[in-house]
Amino acid sequence: MFGCVDAEILNVILGPDKLPHPIYHNPDMFRRQAIRSIRQVTGSVKPAVYSNASASLFFRRFASINARAVVYSEHGKPTEVLKVHSYKIDSPKADEINVRFLAAPINPSDINQVEGVYPSKPEKSTVLGTAEPAAVGGNEGLVEVLETGSSIKGFQKGDWAIMRRVNFGTWRTHATVPEDQLLPVPKGMRVTAAATVAVNPSTAYRMLKDFANLEKGDFFIQNGGNSGVGQAAVQIAKQWGLKSISIVRDRPNLDELKSYLKELGADYVITEDELMNKEIREKVKQWTGGKPIKLALNCVGGKPSTKMAALLGNGGHIVTYGAMARQPLSLPASLLIFKDIKAHGFWMTRFYNGHDKERQEMLDEIFGWVKEGKFKEAMNDVTTWKTSASDEELWEAFKGAMEKSQAGFGKKQVIVMEE
Ligand SMILES: NC(=O)c1ccc[n+]([C@@H]2O[C@H](COP(=O)([O-])OP(=O)(O)OC[C@H]3O[C@@H](n4cnc5c(N)ncnc54)[C@H](OP(=O)(O)O)[C@@H]3O)[C@@H](O)[C@H]2O)c1
Repeated sequence: MFGCVDAEILNVILGPDKLPHPIYHNPDMFRRQAIRSIRQVTGSVKPAVYSNASASLFFRRFASINARAVVYSEHGKPTEVLKVHSYKIDSPKADEINVRFLAAPINPSDINQVEGVYPSKPEKSTVLGTAEPAAVGGNEGLVEVLETGSSIKGFQKGDWAIMRRVNFGTWRTHATVPEDQLLPVPKGMRVTAAATVAVNPSTAYRMLKDFANLEKGDFFIQNGGNSGVGQAAVQIAKQWGLKSISIVRDRPNLDELKSYLKELGADYVITEDELMNKEIREKVKQWTGGKPIKLALNCVGGKPSTKMAALLGNGGHIVTYGAMARQPLSLPASLLIFKDIKAHGFWMTRFYNGHDKERQEMLDEIFGWVKEGKFKEAMNDVTTWKTSASDEELWEAFKGAMEKSQAGFGKKQVIVMEE
């Protein structure tokens, strides 16, 4: 613990002439000599302070990390209630781990959480030294282990991990966490891929696997085809031999987007306008060879979602996992009575409660695809947070990314934290 940082701190406290000589490279010798030097400089300090434990505490305080987080004390418009807060992190206690965040995305549900319209909310507290009880925004991210407490067995310095539980608050540079908060991540992956695996790819994976008993060659249809979940779904489908129809909103660069999604593995990409056209039923019949579509994934709502459900075959399943259009999903009685369509909801937070084994198997499979180059994270824009930047600069950068994430027709916004 008495590395170069401590030497720098002592340099400030004691001045260069009182700094222990580099000969004291052994930590204990360095500590003893440093205590002697401090005693000379601060003649008023009582001898009891010079126990090894007290000295460790003294140095721990001075060796703390300067951390920053995007926090909120009240719910409301994110640009109005969020702010960057600075705080310090000391060395971890025996059962704790200090981590540095490498990257964290801005997902729609993170924004809903700040707005106060999401059912799961983090607890607010003053643990980071905020004047009012506050929570840190963000729910997923990739961390690197900086320092482990003396009783930690499962992680060591340099390991990568993601958060095991939601509501941790990932829009920050550093944190002290209990060991059971971290799930190990194999190294050698792209930072942005590992940082965005827990929410969207996992959601796509579960929805394709858990509802409709899909077999090779079976079709599913989805809206939000270019969303993080949608991009993951077509890639997972490719791995499992499934066929997809993806619906996207019309836009100026539509052909570019369609080509990109097809490169990822999408079979057919149509716009909402094409979906609403009455010729779509015949087209879909040609594409599927008349095979019934067994599954529809809905993150939009409103009329286009009703139309999508109507393309399902008898006994098909529609799984709703989002409501980007902020309109309800309505299903005509005929779909339920005569076609026996089954409607479900999916929430990753609910799945993560009590499915540790399935979760680990799923993550191992997705990490494997990423490493083999078979799975790409969602198209993204990276905003870099540099440690040297001021709170105001970090906030401006974050605000810009957050505004882009809400503007529509954009890419996933990911904050990458650099030392
Ligand atoms: N239930 C769960 O466990 C779970 C897990 C993950 C995600 N989700 C939900 O899934 C949805 C997608 O999340 P994500 O992170 O994948 O999103 P994302 O990457 O940020 O993409 C958002 C998607 O929503 C589309 N969209 C936005 N407003 C729309 C509108 N008015 N009508 C139609 N489409 C619209 C966007 O299309 P444009 O490009 O045309 O703007 C884009 O395809 C969100 O609602 C999110 O909360 C739920």
